Amino acid sequence: MIALPISIQMRILWTLAMGTVFVLLVQYQSSNVWPQQQSQLSNRLDPVAEDLVSLALSKVVIDDDMTLSKEVLLGITRQIARYVVYSSGCNVSPVNGSPSPSTIYIITPTYRRPEQIADLTRMAQTLMLVRDIHWLVVEDSEAKSQLLSSLLHSFGIRFTHLTAPMPKRYKTTKGAKPKGVANRNRALSWIRENANDGIMYFADDDNTYDVRLFNEMRYTQKVSMWPVGLCTKTGLSTPIVENGNLVGFYDGWIAGRKFPVDMAGFAVSVKFLQERPHARMPYKPGFEEDGFLRSLSPFEPREIELKADNCTKILVWHTQTKKNEPSSRVDVVKYKNTNIIDLKRIIV
Ligand code: UGA
Ligand code: MN
Repeated sequence: MIALPISIQMRILWTLAMGTVFVLLVQYQSSNVWPQQQSQLSNRLDPVAEDLVSLALSKVVIDDDMTLSKEVLLGITRQIARYVVYSSGCNVSPVNGSPSPSTIYIITPTYRRPEQIADLTRMAQTLMLVRDIHWLVVEDSEAKSQLLSSLLHSFGIRFTHLTAPMPKRYKTTKGAKPKGVANRNRALSWIRENANDGIMYFADDDNTYDVRLFNEMRYTQKVSMWPVGLCTKTGLSTPIVENGNLVGFYDGWIAGRKFPVDMAGFAVSVKFLQERPHARMPYKPGFEEDGFLRSLSPFEPREIELKADNCTKILVWHTQTKKNEPSSRVDVVKYKNTNIIDLKRIIV
């Protein structure tokens, strides 16, 4: 370690102390926002407060000749605030003792379209804030896209890039298509071959994820569920909870489904999945979630673990990006030797 002058060391210590005070203040604030979980929240954050401050400080480069200016202090404070927000969640205490947190396998179907890179970039920026994940990005395509591959590398997230084209017979049929089904089944077989524990979650590339959602699902024993916002005209898809118990499902489209839930509204323990080698998603538009959850048999609605504080919080939104027409051709003669030629390779 480089020996720093005493005055700088004192300032760093002072900053650490101020940071800790700040963390405690934020905890106090957060517990006011969600009063019913005040005790759990402060219990959980206390031991990590020190880590948060250290992490925040590690992001700040301190040179020998640097004085801790107001800007530097402000930077540290902002960094601490971010870590506090990202590490907080709802009731995340592990069930039955304290199993160590395990990897979340995030399964994302994707396909080439004008919005693809924008959607995946936005999603990746969220995932960059989540610890211990493995992103399974499955392209609906015969071959891997080079552009997508280098984009995925650039995020620094642990990932596996796979392909699984939608079978031709579904591509050519009129009406609703089984979107993302081949992709998700491909990821399921990858998990069967490569994972023994952890959690799996189907996360479409155009939804909006609150980083706290991943804290919620991390301790799933069998299958966990939570509300999804912006789903159909009903505005919401969620288990209905009364006195802490599941009493039904709230969704705009029940259609005789045993599990009328949104794709973004549940996660499954990998161990539980491994014990059900025939579980898979059917090519049945509108019934993908229900079909998959039924294929986890034996599994009944009463076994569902309710997350997001008994389904009172919305931590994921079924957003949809506006569809854009592919861009028009570029005049390669006019723009020869300019950046436009390179940029045009990125966009659809
Ligand atoms: C809804 C559900 O939330 C999806 O999980 C479900 O797969 C889909 O309906 C369906 O119709 O089965 P929605 O927003 O309408 O989702 O569908 P998209 O977001 O367009 O597609 C779902 C996922 O599949 C996305 O991650 C998308 O990138 C991918 N996809 C879509 C493909 O891989 N290929 C396609 O041709 C279309
Ligand atoms: Mn979507």
